[in-house]
Amino acid sequence: MFSPLFSQWLRFSLLSILLTAVSTGSWGQVAPDGRPPIIDYQNRFLPVVAKQGMVAGPEKLAAEVGTRILKAGGNAVDAAVATGFALAVTYPRAGNLGGGGFMLIHLADENKQTLIDYRETAPAAATRDMYLNTDGEIDRMKEYFSHQSAGVPGTVAGMIYALENYGTMSLKKVLAPAIELASSGFNVSFALNFEINARAARLKQNPEALRLFFDKKGEPHAMGSRWKQPDLAWTLKQISRRGNAGFYEGAVARRIVAEMERGEGLITLDDLTNYRVVERAPVAGTFHDFTVVSTPPPSSGGIHIIQMLNILEGYDLKSMGHNSAAYIHHLVESMRRAYADRSAHLGDPDFASVPVSQLISKDYAAQQRQSIAPNQATPSSHIAPMQVLAGESTDTTHYTVVDKAGNVVANTYTLNFSFGSHIAVPGTGLLLNNEMADFAASPGKPNAYGLIEGETNAIAAGKRPLSSMSPTMVFKDGKPWLATGSPGGSVIITTVLQTLLNAMVFDMNIAAAAAGARVHHQWLPDKMRIEQGISPDTIRLLESMGHTVEVGQRTLGRTQSIMLDNGYLFGATDTRRPGGWVAGY
Ligand code: GLY
Repeated sequence: MFSPLFSQWLRFSLLSILLTAVSTGSWGQVAPDGRPPIIDYQNRFLPVVAKQGMVAGPEKLAAEVGTRILKAGGNAVDAAVATGFALAVTYPRAGNLGGGGFMLIHLADENKQTLIDYRETAPAAATRDMYLNTDGEIDRMKEYFSHQSAGVPGTVAGMIYALENYGTMSLKKVLAPAIELASSGFNVSFALNFEINARAARLKQNPEALRLFFDKKGEPHAMGSRWKQPDLAWTLKQISRRGNAGFYEGAVARRIVAEMERGEGLITLDDLTNYRVVERAPVAGTFHDFTVVSTPPPSSGGIHIIQMLNILEGYDLKSMGHNSAAYIHHLVESMRRAYADRSAHLGDPDFASVPVSQLISKDYAAQQRQSIAPNQATPSSHIAPMQVLAGESTDTTHYTVVDKAGNVVANTYTLNFSFGSHIAVPGTGLLLNNEMADFAASPGKPNAYGLIEGETNAIAAGKRPLSSMSPTMVFKDGKPWLATGSPGGSVIITTVLQTLLNAMVFDMNIAAAAAGARVHHQWLPDKMRIEQGISPDTIRLLESMGHTVEVGQRTLGRTQSIMLDNGYLFGATDTRRPGGWVAGY
C-alpha cells in the first residue's frame, strides 16, 4: 500500500516516538503496555522488579531461601525468619544466632506496625565499670574482643517470637533451609572469602574460629570450595526440635556457659533462660505527606531519623539540588544537632527515661532550625544536648521482605563488629557477639564508633545497650511505600535518612536512592565524613562555610531496600555490598 521509502519513514518515526516516550518517562506512572513505573532510560541505577514477593538482603543464598518460603505460601514474617536463620549460615560476619537486633513488621490486614526488640542484654554479673582498668582507663581489648564483650544473645528468641506471633509456618519448616545449607554445605562466594580474609588475623587467635573459618592449611575457605558447618547444623537442629529451649537451655546453653567459664565470661545458664524479647510500639513521624515508622529505644535510630526529618522539613531541599553544598550543609547541621541529643538522652527505656515525644516534636525541630545559619557551619562545641523539660561496628546487617498480601518486614541484626568478638563456642558453630561495646564503658568518653554517650547508656545488669539499628518504613497515602535499613554502627541513622530523602524529596527510584553518595556527621568529632563521588567544588564550598570535611576511603552504610509502587515491588541491594542480592518473583 505504501512505497518502501514511506514505510521505512513510518517505522522510523513510530520508533522515535516510542523511544522518546520511554527516555523522557512520559508514560506517567505505568506505561500503556503495563510496563512498571520507574524503569526508564533516564536512570543509571535500576531496581529489580517483581510482582508478588521479594527479599532484598546481603547474601544471595539466604535471599533465595526467603523467596522460596514466600512461594511455598509463607508470609513475610515466615520468610524473614527463614532468611535470618539462613544468614547465620551463609553470612557469618553479621548473620547470627549469637547476636541480636530489631524486626519492624507491617501487618497488611490490620494496617498496623509493630517492633520486635531482640537486642542482647547485659549479663546479671555485668557492672558499670567492668571495662575500666586500675587507672580508670577503658580496656578496649576486654571491651571488644573478650568473653566479657558478649551480651546475652537475643536472635533465636526474637526469630521464634516473630514466627509464633506473626508467622504462619512451623519453626521446623522455616529452619529446614538453614539446616540444609549448614549440613550439606554451599560453595564459598568471593565476598565470603574476602570477609574471612579481612578479619583473618584476629579470627585465627581463637582456636575454634580458626577451625571453623579456615581450611587445613590455615587459609580462609577458598572461593568456590564447599563449606560445611556440621556443628552449626547441630545447633540449628536443637532449635528446630525444642524451640527456645533448644538454645537457651540444654546442650547448646551448656556449651555456651562452658566457654564462658573457660574464658572468664559472664553469661550464666540463668542469664540465658531469663532472656526475654520485648514487643514495642514503633516510633512514628511525618515528613510532608509521608509517614515514617521506625525503631524505638533501645535503638536511637528511629527517634533521630524523625528528628532530622522534622528539622529538614522546613527547607526547600529540592530546589537546593541533590548533594549540592547547600543541601549537604543543611543535612549535616541537622545530623550534628540530633547526635548531640543522642549523647545525653538515649538508652534502654526500661532503665532510663528517654524524652521521645520531645525529641520528635515539630516544635523542637522549629527551635533547632533557628540556630542553623544558611551558609555557616555551627561548631559542635556551640551545641549542647537538649534540656529535658522536667555504639558500634560497621558489620551489622539488614534485609527487607515483602509478601503478596502486602505484609512487610524490615530486619536489622548483628554481632556488632564483623564476626563479633571473633570468639566461637566449641561444638556449636556460633560466634559470640561483642554488643557490650555498645554501652558507654565510661560515660562521656567515645565508644567504638567515636560516639559520646552518657549515663543513660552506662552498663547495668539486664540492660540493653543503646543501638543505632534503624529498620524503617515509609507510608504514602496510608500504604507501605518504602522499607529499608542498613548496617554501619553510628552511620546507620544518617544512611537511612539520606535513602529516605533521596526517594521522598528527589523522586529517585530505590536503586538510585541507595547508590547516591552519602555524608555523615555525628556531632563529635566535629567533622563531616563524605563518600567519594561528591565534587571537589562542592567540598570547597562546604569548607568555606566552616565545615571540616574528610573524604573517606570507607563507604557509609549498605542498605537493602524495597519500594512498593503501583502494584509492583522494586528492590535494591546497595552497590556498596559485594554479594548483596534481590530475589523476587
Ligand atoms: N552494634 C551496632 C548497633 O547496634 O548500633
